[in-house]
Amino acid sequence: MAYRNNEPYNDLPLLPPAALLETTAVLRRAITASRALAELKGAGNLIPNQAILINAIPLQEARLSSEIENIVTTQDALFRAATAAEGRVDPATREVLRYRTALRHGFEALRTRRIDIDLILEVCRVLSDGAAALRDAEPILIEDVAAGQAVYTPPRGRARIVALLRNLTDFLNGPGDLDPLLRMAVAHYQFEAIHPFVDGNGRTGRILNILALVQAGLLDIPVLYLSRYIIQNKPEYYRRLAAVTERGDWEGWLLYMLAAVEETARWTTGRIGAIRELFEATTERCRRELPEYMYSRELVELLFVQPYVKVKFLVDAGIAKRQTAAVYLRELEKLGILQGERHGRETVYKHPALLDLLSE
Ligand SMILES: Nc1ncnc2c1ncn2[C@@H]1O[C@H](COP(=O)(O)OP(=O)(O)O)[C@@H](O)[C@H]1O
Ligand SMILES: [Mg+2]
Repeated sequence: MAYRNNEPYNDLPLLPPAALLETTAVLRRAITASRALAELKGAGNLIPNQAILINAIPLQEARLSSEIENIVTTQDALFRAATAAEGRVDPATREVLRYRTALRHGFEALRTRRIDIDLILEVCRVLSDGAAALRDAEPILIEDVAAGQAVYTPPRGRARIVALLRNLTDFLNGPGDLDPLLRMAVAHYQFEAIHPFVDGNGRTGRILNILALVQAGLLDIPVLYLSRYIIQNKPEYYRRLAAVTERGDWEGWLLYMLAAVEETARWTTGRIGAIRELFEATTERCRRELPEYMYSRELVELLFVQPYVKVKFLVDAGIAKRQTAAVYLRELEKLGILQGERHGRETVYKHPALLDLLSE
């Protein structure tokens, strides 16, 4: 079964891999990564309003996962988009927002379903705005553009792709005694090696990582920010994927993914702690310094769910009527919590302390 980078890898082995996966080094790392992930899960549960995390952190994941694929926008543009008319949002920002929607769709689906081929298709469809279908005979390959050569050519033919995906979802859902973190890592290699779509494989695969952890009960909400590690170690990501195919180097791949989980779990836990502190401090200040009739928990929470707010958001949340809502926002600006920006005829208020926290 000699493997050639420029010929479809139709002999891609089924899961589970025949190799020994649980080497001493892998098991050691799996322990520390699991511990970091458990801390993250606990930290997420301490946040009073989960919508705060479900809005902000997946958006960061969406941004960097898309950036791995050269779809680039800024955090500011993303948050601001919530306050803008759809037609005024640039295409890259819209694409990143679709990533978040796709992640959310998958997460909601797991309440009643398990990861299967249909769910994978749905995620990729939301991501790519409707067009995704499983590949058939399209000639696609992964290239090293700089070197001008093929790095990898995935298996060809729809029936083969369906069989491989079924094997992959059985592996993810099945009994088996492999640790769920290792299962996620193995599945991510396999998904990328199958490369079932013409485009969107990297992003769909990284959404599946989070979904696999949620399905396994290692996370309650989709807040692990894995793409942060991947983009900081991107050449290695590509090299490690290729090394499994070319040399069966599972250990290198698993250690890479476990390091990604551990490091980003720690980082995300830290961010959640900081968000929580800011939330408490802001609540305190609003309670003390806003006119009494203005203060409500809902108001403060809204400032954390939407780092950019406008009058309409307060009205929609039932916090105040139009006129009064405008007064509230101006008061919050006077306190220095929000900062108003003129956008055409409308004023949009941003929450700089939260935005700073979210941007490293
Ligand atoms: N040698 C390789 N073998 C398998 N998959 C790879 C390899 N190198 C890169 N990849 C995967 O291919 C992804 C890019 O595929 P693509 O369909 O363009 O994703 P997207 O549309 O999300 O940009 C990378 O993010 C990576 O996950
Ligand atoms: Mg692409």
